[in-house]
Amino acid sequence: MSTVFVQLSDLHIRQPGQLTYRRIDTAAYLKKAIQSISNRQEHISAVVITGDLVDFGRVEEYGHLAKLLEPLSMPVYLLAGNHDHPVHLREVFSSHSYLGTQGPIQYCVDIGSISLVALDTSVKNASHGELAADQLAWLSHVLDLNKDRSVVIAMHHPPFLTGIHHMDQQNLKVGNDSFKQLIAQHKNIQHIICGHVHRPISIQYAHTVASIAPSPAHQVALDLMPDGPSRWLLEPGAYRMLTAIPGQSIVNHMAYVDSFDGPYPFYENGRLID
Ligand SMILES: [Fe+2]
Ligand SMILES: [Fe+2]
Repeated sequence: MSTVFVQLSDLHIRQPGQLTYRRIDTAAYLKKAIQSISNRQEHISAVVITGDLVDFGRVEEYGHLAKLLEPLSMPVYLLAGNHDHPVHLREVFSSHSYLGTQGPIQYCVDIGSISLVALDTSVKNASHGELAADQLAWLSHVLDLNKDRSVVIAMHHPPFLTGIHHMDQQNLKVGNDSFKQLIAQHKNIQHIICGHVHRPISIQYAHTVASIAPSPAHQVALDLMPDGPSRWLLEPGAYRMLTAIPGQSIVNHMAYVDSFDGPYPFYENGRLID
């Protein structure tokens, strides 16, 4: 039997009534995504949210997020991104026991036939990501325990370059080589799912596939020029649907959450670009 689970990423929820970058009603976009997930006919085993859950790590923002997530009937697994605050996240989501009570927010849970291993790449007061030696040791231990299972690794910061330079400057900066070595040693790792870059992107990584999910709200502009500015736009929001079909590797679908006519103007520093 197939296992299907959803990956949402980069929700950037603010307090009720406040807009991200003064323009984006991220809560409205998340509501649409949750409606879309709830309306699906497939059995969705879980929803995994790969960080930047809220915009400023505030308790009120996590409270708003908790309310928005209420309609989801399946287990929801939360990861920390660079916009998150681990103490406030754990405080508001205290019923999510997998989050633990201290240290990095890292855990391993079963989702149907999959073992999901969630890592915490966030660094206090920084945009980039890191994996410390003790986190890599924990990962090695968990991978050994799950060597007979299909494993998916989830992490906010991608451990690879995308060619979008202003985002590549804040990807995983510490622990990359050791992480890649660990991945290469475990051929049962089926997929590495990331967030942070707000675009659908994928790459071969060691023997496996690493991918990034778009946001259900704002996307980062596709601009591969070395001096490309940091711009976002309201291209269609989306989420991933990872599908484990017995006898083959995982299929990674992308589902749009709404219908869109375009055009999609660019914004830079909150300013509309002609
Ligand atoms: Fe983000
Ligand atoms: Fe991020």
